[in-house]
Amino acid sequence: MAPAPPQAALVDRRPDRATITADVLAGLAVRPRALPSKYFYDARGSALFECITRQPEYYLTRTELELLPQVLPEIAAQVGPQARVVEYGSGSGRKTRLLLQALQDVVAYTPVEISRTALLDSVRALAVDFPAIEMLPVCADFTALPPLPPPQRSSRRTLLFFPGSTLGNFTEAAAVSILSGMRQAMGPQGLALIGIDLDKDPDVIEAAYNDVAGVTAAFTLNLLARLNREIDSDFDLSGFVHRARYASARRRIETSLVSLRTQVVHVAGQAFGFERDEAMHVEYSHKYDDAQFAAMAAAAGLRVRGAWDAAGRMFGLRLLQPA
Ligand code: AVJ
Repeated sequence: MAPAPPQAALVDRRPDRATITADVLAGLAVRPRALPSKYFYDARGSALFECITRQPEYYLTRTELELLPQVLPEIAAQVGPQARVVEYGSGSGRKTRLLLQALQDVVAYTPVEISRTALLDSVRALAVDFPAIEMLPVCADFTALPPLPPPQRSSRRTLLFFPGSTLGNFTEAAAVSILSGMRQAMGPQGLALIGIDLDKDPDVIEAAYNDVAGVTAAFTLNLLARLNREIDSDFDLSGFVHRARYASARRRIETSLVSLRTQVVHVAGQAFGFERDEAMHVEYSHKYDDAQFAAMAAAAGLRVRGAWDAAGRMFGLRLLQPA
C-alpha cells in the first residue's frame, strides 16, 4: 500500500473569539446594523451552503460547474505547465478538482478558506486524488491574507482561482482592493481566474436567494446560532427572519435578518435594542455587467484577457492578467 502523502502543516489564521466579538459589536453599533457575511461559514454554515448549491433555484454553482469543463482546456493552454494554484474561498473543492485535472503538472495547491472543517476535508480528499501536487492549506480570511507558504518545487507562474462569484459578496471598493491584493499576490507573470454572476432577470436572481425548501433562510439564521455558540451573545433565532431582495439599480442581492418584534440582544455584556421590522444587513451578492467588471479590474491594475459566459449569460468566467 502506498504511504499517505506527506501533509504540510496547516497555516491557521482562523478568526478568534475576540476578533469575532469586536466585529459584531462594531456592526451592532452602526445604523443600519450589519454583520459580516464571512461569519456564515462555520462547519454547519459551510454544510448549509453546499446544500444551497444543490437547490433547483440556485443556478450559480450548477452553471459554473457546467461551464468549467467546456473552457478549461483553453484556459489550461494559456496557463501552461508547472503553475502554483492559489484558491480563495475554496469551500468543498468541487471546482478545484476540475481545475487541477485540466492543468499540466501543477506544482502546489494553496486553498485559502475561513472554514477550518471545509478546508481540512477538501484538502484530505484532494491529496488522495492528486498525490503529485503539494498541498499547502491556509485557514484564513482572504481579505487579511498571511504570507503564503512557499512550494518546494519552483513554479513558472501563480494562478489565482476565485470561483463562485464570492467577489460579489463585497462592495465595489472592497472588491477592487481584493483584486489589487490578487495583483500583488500573482506577480508579473500571474493570472487570475474569477467566477462572476452576471446581471439578468431579477426574478431568476431573487429566487436563487429565496429557495422554496428554505435552505438559504436556514443558512442566514445559522449566523446567529454560530455567534451564540462562539461568542457571548443571546440572539433569539425565532425573533429574526431571512430577507433577500434584488436591488436592480445596484445590481445586487441585499440579504438581511429582519427583527420580528421589539427585542433586546446582549453581546459581551452590552445591550442592543431592535425595533420591530428593523433590518440588519448580513450579505451582498453583486451581479456584474462586462463594462463594470472590466473597470473594476482596471482599477486594480488588471486587464481581462479572456471571458467565457454560460448560455443565456447565466454566469461568467474571466481570466485576468496584470495590465
Ligand atoms: C458565497 C458568493 C457563492 O453570494 O451567491 C448563497 C453565498 N449566500 N446564498 C452567493 C450565498 C446565499 C454565495 N457565494
